[in-house]
Amino acid sequence: MKRVTILGSTGSIGRQTVEIIKRHPKRFKAFGLSARKNIDLLEEQIIELRPQIVAVLDEAAATELRRRVGGKIRVLVGIEGLKELASLFESDLVVNAIVGSAGLDPTIAAIEAGKELALANKESMVVGGEIVSALIRKKKARVIPVDSEHNAIFQCLQGEGPDDVVRIILTGSGGPFRGKRLEELRDVTVEEALAHPRWKMGKKISIDSATLMNKGLEVIEAHFLFGIDYDRIEVVIHPQSIIHSMVEFRDGSIKAHLGWTDMRIPIQYALSFPERLSSPLIGLDFSELGQFTFEKPDLVNFPCFELALQAARDGRTYPAVLNAANEEAIAAFLERRVSFIAIPQIISRTLAAHSPQNADDLGVLKEVERWAREKARELIVLLTR
Ligand SMILES: NC(=O)c1ccc[n+]([C@@H]2O[C@H](COP(=O)([O-])OP(=O)(O)OC[C@H]3O[C@@H](n4cnc5c(N)ncnc54)[C@H](OP(=O)(O)O)[C@@H]3O)[C@@H](O)[C@H]2O)c1
Repeated sequence: MKRVTILGSTGSIGRQTVEIIKRHPKRFKAFGLSARKNIDLLEEQIIELRPQIVAVLDEAAATELRRRVGGKIRVLVGIEGLKELASLFESDLVVNAIVGSAGLDPTIAAIEAGKELALANKESMVVGGEIVSALIRKKKARVIPVDSEHNAIFQCLQGEGPDDVVRIILTGSGGPFRGKRLEELRDVTVEEALAHPRWKMGKKISIDSATLMNKGLEVIEAHFLFGIDYDRIEVVIHPQSIIHSMVEFRDGSIKAHLGWTDMRIPIQYALSFPERLSSPLIGLDFSELGQFTFEKPDLVNFPCFELALQAARDGRTYPAVLNAANEEAIAAFLERRVSFIAIPQIISRTLAAHSPQNADDLGVLKEVERWAREKARELIVLLTR
């Protein structure tokens, strides 16, 4: 029986993780849960799963939850509460399903405490890749990626030697605006941008998929997770989203991971690794699927992808600045303050104003993030419609 802590249990990945735990009650038990402030859902999850401890980021929401659940369960609060929850010795596996760079501190806390980590929070690796990958090596931590592409690559790499890998091929659906030109993207609405053709996800990653920033963040995530140079990571658009990624080996063999477009497959694998458990998500009918197609990512009409690759190549604190400016720009777009095409403008101008530093110090990263958010907010005011 694995005791599981889910950070961000009220989100898209978090709720699907809860489903997996409920599907395999003899294998998994929810030990800890967390939310930012959605305590209505958190309370339901507490009643259903009976965890021993929860954490709530928002102080007022934590106070209200304590009032509702009485003394029956410990409620931790704030970022310190999240870090404590991530490192409690009673849990065997921590699932980090928090969105954004807020996930970095809990990622570090979980690895430092020697936890097995199922990592959905890609921003941890984008912002703190150097620190987190060094910590993983130092602690010999087991980190299983949840992101479908990285989970696919992780599965392809099982039983293979690192020297045999020639390249990683990350696939992407192309998002809801694939095939559109920049002029056509000028007036797209929040609703259109959130309507992903293949995946049902949280709002932030849905917008990242629409701008293609998501693929750029995933390239950085793959670089740090698998220790592979950027020039050996390729991205190909595969609109059917059945091949979740591929790895080419030096003898010319290419391994691919295929399956339904459903996050419960990689989540379950991350929970059950190294075993496989049964699932209703079997029976993919290839003759029904028809064709698989592939094309190059569109760098001209989706500038966020190239911005991410440039930040990745420039390294140091550029990826942290890219991420912070992106988070601010997306929040402003979701609030309908700026247009969809303002997102890359905000990011590129923030990057252009940045004086890079080494990214191996958490204090420096935090300060750089703070600066980048402030800079991006200034630009948002200038670009507000
Ligand atoms: N969704 C997918 O299919 C998918 C696929 C691949 C990778 N991922 C990655 O998985 C992560 C989670 O994505 P998601 O789509 O599940 O996000 P989501 O639906 O927005 O859920 C985010 C979760 O994190 C909590 N949270 C938000 N801000 C927080 C903060 N500042 N501090 C602590 N907790 C916070 C939320 O609590 P409240 O509910 O209280 O706000 C919620 O529980 C992201 O890094 C994303 O890139 C997601």
